[in-house]
Amino acid sequence: MTLNTNAAPPTSRRRPHGHMWLVGLLGVAAGLVLLVYVPTLSLVGRSILLFAGFHVVGAIVLASSLWASALRPLARRWMGAEGRAARADRFDFGWGPGWMNGLAIAGLVGLAAATTLIVTAPTLWPLSFLLVALSVVFAVGNLIMRGFRRVDQAVLPMTDLLSGDHDLILDAGCGAGRTTVALGRIMKAGRVIGLDRFDADYIDDGGRALFDHNLKIAGLTGRAEAVAGDLTAMPFPDGHFDASASTHVYDHLGSGKAAALAETLRVLKPGGRFLMGVWVPGWSMFAVGSVFSLFLTSKAAWRGMAKSAGFAIVEEDTMNGAWFLLIEKPASSASAGAGDEVDRRLQTR
Ligand SMILES: C[S@@+](CC[C@H](N)C(=O)[O-])C[C@H]1O[C@@H](n2cnc3c(N)ncnc32)[C@H](O)[C@@H]1O
Repeated sequence: MTLNTNAAPPTSRRRPHGHMWLVGLLGVAAGLVLLVYVPTLSLVGRSILLFAGFHVVGAIVLASSLWASALRPLARRWMGAEGRAARADRFDFGWGPGWMNGLAIAGLVGLAAATTLIVTAPTLWPLSFLLVALSVVFAVGNLIMRGFRRVDQAVLPMTDLLSGDHDLILDAGCGAGRTTVALGRIMKAGRVIGLDRFDADYIDDGGRALFDHNLKIAGLTGRAEAVAGDLTAMPFPDGHFDASASTHVYDHLGSGKAAALAETLRVLKPGGRFLMGVWVPGWSMFAVGSVFSLFLTSKAAWRGMAKSAGFAIVEEDTMNGAWFLLIEKPASSASAGAGDEVDRRLQTR
């Protein structure tokens, strides 16, 4: 099998945050039904309305962000060389203003609503209190989201990936190259391949042009390369990579998670390691995604999927606000149960 670096990415556009609309509109409908038909539960109805209202506001903010993102390339073209030169020395991971500020705006709207409520209807203070609590949660979520802009990611767990000075590492779902740049920081003379469909509508240009831009600033041009393709059908031969890393991608894959893990195993050399950073249910994720965070895949489910794919679990912890699982392809297919062996070694440490 040859490396197909020119494969066109699938044309479908992913809209992973459409659920904001769904919960917002369903919640508004449920709240209204309760208020009209079950007046005795009016407090519950109003609470649902307020909670759903936040999601509608969030959805509007995110939709505006997408719209603004679509205008950004045009604005840059109008600005010409001057506009591009202004950011030529800065990393840009392509996150639109809505992603960076949406939760903060929702928090401010919540605080304004809480103040209005307590002044105009003091008896509804529990609702006002709920709004303030939600606003605080949104503010925390916003701080977490803003961390995505940072390039100075903690990279220590990535050093556990390396097996030599000349490793070839896969950044699975590289986007605009945030993790590729981090990998570049730990490698002496190795190379990184960034694989992505480059069609995410929440990253400017899907990230392809920004990937090259960021590599140039990081001084990695020539040592890293972008490949367009899908994680569930990777355009690489078996055993191609010494190791792989991925941040905030496999949790976006829906029903494709198991297929992507199987593909990752396939393209790794025996003994190769995969560092997978994902969001899992927990308090910090509740701040970012409220009730939706409860539907994220749990740590136990990830461990189970990794083992079912044939990986051995080496380590797990948190890194850059995400939970990570460091897993390893057994040294040979004959060593069935090698996963259990690594697990046992871990438990006796
Ligand atoms: C949240 S972004 C993370 C990007 C980058 N890893 C980072 O940490 O900044 C998720 C990335 O996964 C990519 N992606 C999602 N599903 C994919 C698939 N099936 N195949 C290839 N890339 C995919 C998206 O295009 C997007 O660039």
